Amino acid sequence: MTEELLRDGNLSDGELKALLETDEYDAELRTAADAVRRSIYGTDVYIRGLIEFTSCCKNDCFYCGIRCGNRRAVRYRLTPGQILSCAGLGYDLGFRTFVLQGGEDPYYTDDMICRIVSDIKNRHGDCAVTLSIGERSKESYRAYWRAGTDRYLLRHETAAEDHYRRLHPGSMSLAERKRCLWDLKEIGFQVGSGFMVGSPYQTTENLIEDIRFLQELQPAMIGIGPFISHKDTPFRDFKSGTAELTLRLVSVLRLMFPYALIPATTALGTITPDGRERGLSAGANVVMPNLSPTDVRKYYLLYDNKICTGDEAAECRRCLEARVALAGYRIVTARGDVKTQDTVRGAAV
Ligand code: 5AD
Ligand code: FES
Repeated sequence: MTEELLRDGNLSDGELKALLETDEYDAELRTAADAVRRSIYGTDVYIRGLIEFTSCCKNDCFYCGIRCGNRRAVRYRLTPGQILSCAGLGYDLGFRTFVLQGGEDPYYTDDMICRIVSDIKNRHGDCAVTLSIGERSKESYRAYWRAGTDRYLLRHETAAEDHYRRLHPGSMSLAERKRCLWDLKEIGFQVGSGFMVGSPYQTTENLIEDIRFLQELQPAMIGIGPFISHKDTPFRDFKSGTAELTLRLVSVLRLMFPYALIPATTALGTITPDGRERGLSAGANVVMPNLSPTDVRKYYLLYDNKICTGDEAAECRRCLEARVALAGYRIVTARGDVKTQDTVRGAAV
């Protein structure tokens, strides 16, 4: 089955189901995924400086620790000046991509977001800026694009209608989520999507739908991580997802999307101590160290026991450098735009 996936970059639903429900193929999947990754990206691992700039959110997703219904969550907002100085610190540490992530927080108007992005781009012209601020109108997305935003991350979370409704309140819809993703793509962003692994009520069929949706969308980035329960959410009593299934999916995704930028996520590193290293070995090629100011980090808690909440940015950078090296790869400081068949072929001649 692994050879077929390697050769065709695809499998039937039945084959995928079999592959996802056993650990039998894990070793060969990992080997094949690593070979594909090396053929395109070598041992390069891109780093993205993550700036979690607001823990306020108007949404109430049942799985998320910063959902508006969580009265115990501590809320903070970074000022544009604070965000800019985070980026400056990151720049000095070698980061050339900044990911501005936050809850869905209307306090930050389009004008503010645009100003923050263009300030970063003006100050650090060789950097890419990624936004991860949820669902907004196409007009807003266009404004962010004009302000110089390069990339946009918006996980679809689950591509199955019924499953989506079990994870979100009635005010949210999968159709709107997908509308956002298609708009972002049409505008020209490098788009990232993805889903949680092992979220409550998820079936193998749901995961296959996630894969099929990604095949349709063809995102430049694919982020997946295990669901991890948070004690102050309605899902507090659900079991978390596993590293094993997450890693299996990372390998499957690498084989299906040879060129994709796939992070070894913080959630994966939280569920098991060597999760990010194992993510890299399974086909991931991005890590996203935290650049948020140390005093607010402990409040951006989407799930319990999140790692790296007590470290300085410089420590995270050093720590990941060592972890990546130990796994047999190498951090590079290039912007790390997604490669395509053309750019890879072009480089070879
Ligand atoms: N466990 C794991 N991942 C989560 N996210 C949100 N809540 C959780 C949780 N409890 C993920 C979502 C979101 C991303 C920023 O974090 O997939 O898109
Ligand atoms: Fe943050 Fe290791 S990556 S301390």
